[in-house]
Amino acid sequence: MSVLTTHSFTAACRENNALSPELVTAFRTKIYMYFRAHPRPMPWRETNDPYRILVSEIMLQQTQVERVKNKYAEFLNVYPTVFELAASPLSDVLQAWQGLGYNRRAIFLKRCSEAIVTCYGGKFPRSVAELQSLPGIGPYTSRAVAAFAFGIAEPLIETNIRTVYIHYFFHGCAVIDDREIMPLIAATLDRENPREWYYALMDYGGMLKQTGPNPGRRSRHHAQQSRFEGSNRQLRSRILREVLEHAGMTLKKLQSVVSALPEAVERNLAALQREGFLVKRSRGYYIADSTETNRE
Ligand code: ADE
Repeated sequence: MSVLTTHSFTAACRENNALSPELVTAFRTKIYMYFRAHPRPMPWRETNDPYRILVSEIMLQQTQVERVKNKYAEFLNVYPTVFELAASPLSDVLQAWQGLGYNRRAIFLKRCSEAIVTCYGGKFPRSVAELQSLPGIGPYTSRAVAAFAFGIAEPLIETNIRTVYIHYFFHGCAVIDDREIMPLIAATLDRENPREWYYALMDYGGMLKQTGPNPGRRSRHHAQQSRFEGSNRQLRSRILREVLEHAGMTLKKLQSVVSALPEAVERNLAALQREGFLVKRSRGYYIADSTETNRE
């Protein structure tokens, strides 16, 4: 079985219109053998604490593993449990998030911690449905927390896992939809040990991306992260940083310190208010739940 190539996996899968038990075993063996020889150590893989796992998954959504490793430790030093995070002013949470980018994740993480404290007394719910009803938690994150914290086996997909299935089961196919991949993820899932299985798939996918043309590019859902330099994302993050450092900044002042078109600054300030980052009091801008004196 171990002589099966990607081509023969794809062909065998097509011929039977399903996966035979032998094929499932051969596939799992390949993935596990690689993982046992090359596991990537990551601090969030050393814990069962759902809070720590949630923090890692939110951070990993749009940020590289190596960058997350440092921030993860720093963040957990400041916010060791869901209670400290829920009780903290948003301005402090955003401050702790600086360097990771995509600041909306910090707002969602904070709102999520508040919901867990108010609705569940600080104890994470275990079901995927309840997890997914929390602010900012989608189909992937709910299933990842369920698998990594509680050992619950539900099919889940993210970029590295997608890469593995495209590589093995879609040899020669051009545009693959996640809806075609999900039944294969379900059929091959190691239900006895979903945590280790998903780590193994993620590491295997990471290896595939590094060692050849990325099979993930053939996904319908493949999206390359846009350039940060000169982007609106950079401007947003600059405006937010200014207000974090100098509460009460006016539109005029912001327009004079960030190098961008005045309309672009205004447009971003409006968006940041709509999204719950900023509030305007008299003529100045503040982080949404900070007091007038915060960080002045
Ligand atoms: N291990 C656990 N979750 C992970 C993720 N989202 N990316 C990479 N490795 C992980």
